[in-house]
Amino acid sequence: MATGHVFFVVIVCSSAIYVSNAARCGLGGPEVQSPFHLIDEQPCDDVLGHPGYTMKCSRENSTTVISFPSYGDLTVMSIDYETKRIDLVDPKGCVHEVFLNLDLSNTPFQHFYLLKNYTYLKCSSSSSLPVDHVLRSYDEIPCMSRADHKVYTVDVSIGVPSNCRAIKTVAIPFGYSPYISDNTFGLALTWDSPPCDGCNNSISDRHRHHQVLGWSIVLLCVCLAMAGLAAAKMYSSYVKKRGDNNRKENEQLLKHSEGMLQSLEA
Ligand SMILES: *[C@@H]1O[C@H](CO)[C@@H](O)[C@H](O)[C@H]1NC(C)=O
Ligand SMILES: *[C@@H]1O[C@H](CO)[C@@H](O)[C@H](O)[C@H]1NC(C)=O
Ligand SMILES: *[C@@H]1O[C@H](CO)[C@@H](O)[C@H](O)[C@H]1NC(C)=O
Repeated sequence: MATGHVFFVVIVCSSAIYVSNAARCGLGGPEVQSPFHLIDEQPCDDVLGHPGYTMKCSRENSTTVISFPSYGDLTVMSIDYETKRIDLVDPKGCVHEVFLNLDLSNTPFQHFYLLKNYTYLKCSSSSSLPVDHVLRSYDEIPCMSRADHKVYTVDVSIGVPSNCRAIKTVAIPFGYSPYISDNTFGLALTWDSPPCDGCNNSISDRHRHHQVLGWSIVLLCVCLAMAGLAAAKMYSSYVKKRGDNNRKENEQLLKHSEGMLQSLEA
């Protein structure tokens, strides 16, 4: 009876904690809470000019997605609300393509890492053309290069070779290197806090009410669990006492009948 009770309490409590917490996409997705919100999941009728904080769940694979007008969708791997760090992955698997195109002005985000200016070079290539000596110390970015051209990130100070064109100079965390070609690395952003909680006040109030409700249920659960345990203890000691009493009664009855038997024999 006691184990059943504990199970019940655990189930109710975990659902209460679930109610009190933020939303997430899928089971392993990062927790999405203020200042971010999941469109469709967390009703936020009015984003009040902070569209940059909106995320969504991808229907295909229940990943968390944030959209940038300058690039498109990026997958949200983790959000650290303490250090204000959000780690992203390019679903197309090309971090340097993201670095080149992602324009963070007019968004609440900045790069998390220190930046350095690099120039993206697009160089025509063919087997007959020798690679310019300037480019020998660089590796082309595989996901941006094609058969007829190669793309490099180079120091801003180098002279542009004749078969190359400078695409753009961008401040990015690091230039391309085959040693850090892992596309899950480098796309870390940090954010500015919005003036109000991302959603407007009526919505943050509603969120707060949910949290208060959640924690009240947790408190109630703890009380119930304690009361339940106390009741179980009292019940078992009552059963034990009754067992003792019964034994005494039986012994008395036995003595009594023995006495009767002896008097009959006599
Ligand atoms: C999730 O789905 C999107 C859209 O179909 C796709 O681009 C992306 O690669 C998928 N991500 C994973 C981790 O499967
Ligand atoms: C990159 O270059 C621009 C233009 O010269 C400059 O304003 C900016 O401060 C530079 N950024 C870094 C991180 O050096
Ligand atoms: C918040 O959103 C509600 C519902 O859309 C709207 O009626 C209200 O005016 C908004 N409040 C503010 C302060 O904008």
